[in-house]
Formats: sequence, C-alpha cells, structure tokens
Amino acid sequence: MSVFLVTGGAGFIGSHLCDELVRRGHRVRVADNLITGKRTNLQHLSQVEFLEGDLADLAFAQRAVESCEFVLHQAAIPSVPRSVKDPIASNHANVNATLNLLVASRDAGVKRVVFAGSSSAYGDTPTLPKHEEMPTNPLSPYALQKVVGEQYMQLFTRLYGLETVTTRYFNVFGPRQDPSSPYSGVISVFATALLENRSPDIYGDGEQTRDFTYVVNVVDGVLRACDAPQASGEIINVATGGRISLNELFRTMRELIGATAEPTYGPSRPGDVRDSQADIAKAQRLLRYQPIVSFEEGLRRTVEWYRTAGAAATA
Ligand code: UD1
Repeated sequence: MSVFLVTGGAGFIGSHLCDELVRRGHRVRVADNLITGKRTNLQHLSQVEFLEGDLADLAFAQRAVESCEFVLHQAAIPSVPRSVKDPIASNHANVNATLNLLVASRDAGVKRVVFAGSSSAYGDTPTLPKHEEMPTNPLSPYALQKVVGEQYMQLFTRLYGLETVTTRYFNVFGPRQDPSSPYSGVISVFATALLENRSPDIYGDGEQTRDFTYVVNVVDGVLRACDAPQASGEIINVATGGRISLNELFRTMRELIGATAEPTYGPSRPGDVRDSQADIAKAQRLLRYQPIVSFEEGLRRTVEWYRTAGAAATA
C-alpha cells in the first residue's frame, strides 16, 4: 500500500484515478478547489480524504503533499477556448499551482510526481503521428501552460533530483466528463445533445481529427508511470494511437444512440488544432502500456453512462 495525492481528484480523470487506487488498496488524498471538479464524483469513495483548497496557495500545497509518496497532478482548468478567453485565470491554475506543488513535493520528499500533460503541446505540426521528440508549438495559452508545466517537471528532476513524469493526454473521454459547460469535451457534448435529439455544433468543417482516448487507458498509463524505472524525467504520450474526424465521430455516435439530429456547422475555434494523433511507442517501451479499451468500446460505455447515470447526475 502506498499513499497518493490526487490533485484535481474531484474532476473527471482524477476521480477515475481515485477509483482505481482505492480498488488496488492504496491510501488516497484528494486536493481540489472545486472550480471544475465536483464532490459528487467522489461520493462513492468514502475512504478518500478530501482537502478543499487552491494549490496556487503554497501553504495549501504543502499541507496537501504531507506524508504522500506519489503525487498525481491532474488539477487544471482544462480548456483551450477558456484559456483564450481568460489567460490569467488559466495560468494561475495551470502554472502557479504546478510550481507550488513541485516545491512542496520536493521539500516533503515525495517519491514521484506524475503530471497531466496535453497533446495540445504539439500544435499544428504536419507530421503524424506526433512523437515526443517533436518540438512543441503551443497555439493557445492552455497549450503553453501545459508545456511550461512539463518543463518545470523536467527541471525539478534535473535540478533537485525529484522524480517526475509527464503523461501527455490526447482528448480523454468517458463517464463523468462534465457536458454542461461551453468548454466541455466534444464527446460529452455530442452524447448529451444526441440523447435529447438536439443538434450539436461542429466548429469548422468537421474534418479535423483527434486521437480520442478512453479514460481507463489513461488511468492505466498514469499508474504505470508511477513506478516504471526508466520513466523519470520523461514526457510520454498516453493515447490510443488512432484518429477520427469530428464528422465521423458524429455519425458513429448518432448511430449508437439512434438519434436523427443533424449537426450545425459554425466557425472554427481560435487556437484549435487541425489534426492530432499520438505515437505511443515510447509508452509501450517505457511503461509497457497498451490501450486496454478500444475507442469503439469506450464510446459504447460512455454513451451508456450518459444514458443512465449521467442523466440522473445532471437531473
Ligand atoms: C484540447 C487538447 C487536449 C486537451 C483538451 C483540454 C488538442 C489536440 N487537444 O482538446 O489534449 O486535454 O484540449 O480541454 O489540442 N468541437 C466541436 N463542437 C463542440 C465542442 C468541440 O466541434 O461542441 C470541436 C473543437 O473545435 C475541436 C474538437 O471538437 O476541434 C475537440 O474539442 P475538445 O473536445 O474541446 O478538445 P480539444 O480542444 O481538441
């Protein structure tokens, strides 16, 4: 048994990490400011210790890491358009909090910090799939903040010997992703619209592509990153390794749900990336990672959740 801090543990990915850690018998503490997270995401996990506060406050970050062996840093304001609209608030959450957490982790003797990086770091480079040796090219404040975070991780490893790993996520989806904000992930938005037979919006021509990754795969990748011996100081893509256009995603989901609505096309979003697909060879090599749940199966499980539990949660 080990002791884990999951920052952002009341959020979508964080709460799935808590589920698996508890299932494996670990002790789990969550630190969350509940800006995007929800207490209800953890209501079934009474064993989890919950600390409400802002990691951009160093004293709170110090309290949060106390006696923890592993820190899974998932807390963020995770949205490209939200960061374009309000770069200062997203910098506060995504950069200031990350630096505090690193300082606190270093001083508390944490064994390893695993940081939630983002595929947005790659920007619009024409080469596909995207591999970790490629230069970063952030197109939004969010992407830049995630790049700063991963560079801080590497710097703390080099400078202070704190073990860190960045897992770069590619468009993660699954149960509990909040569909209710204008910044929500596209699969959660499509699922809820189509279940109510409303027309979802597609920004741009819908031919942009994404490597959508079911959340169970991300949880597996992150937990492998905690103890893979050669992973410290590294940045590693955690994804499915495929890509699908939004138009194709829409058609697949409409068929799964049995809806008849047509999408409404609007202008592209500023800061949007055209194509995104991960090379997962490094994760396979260093983490022995392999996606456990396919995109199609993940999509089925997700739609089912929005049909049942999701509808109840948002009622
Ligand atoms: C980006 C990052 C991802 C990061 C996430 C955080 C890339 C390639 N990916 O995801 O790593 O974790 O931000 O939020 O940069 N869209 C619609 N209609 C909608 C909603 C979205 O057409 O109602 C479109 C968007 O314009 C985009 C695609 O769907 O082209 C996916 O959008 P979204 O789910 O918000 O994620 P990204 O911005 O790709």
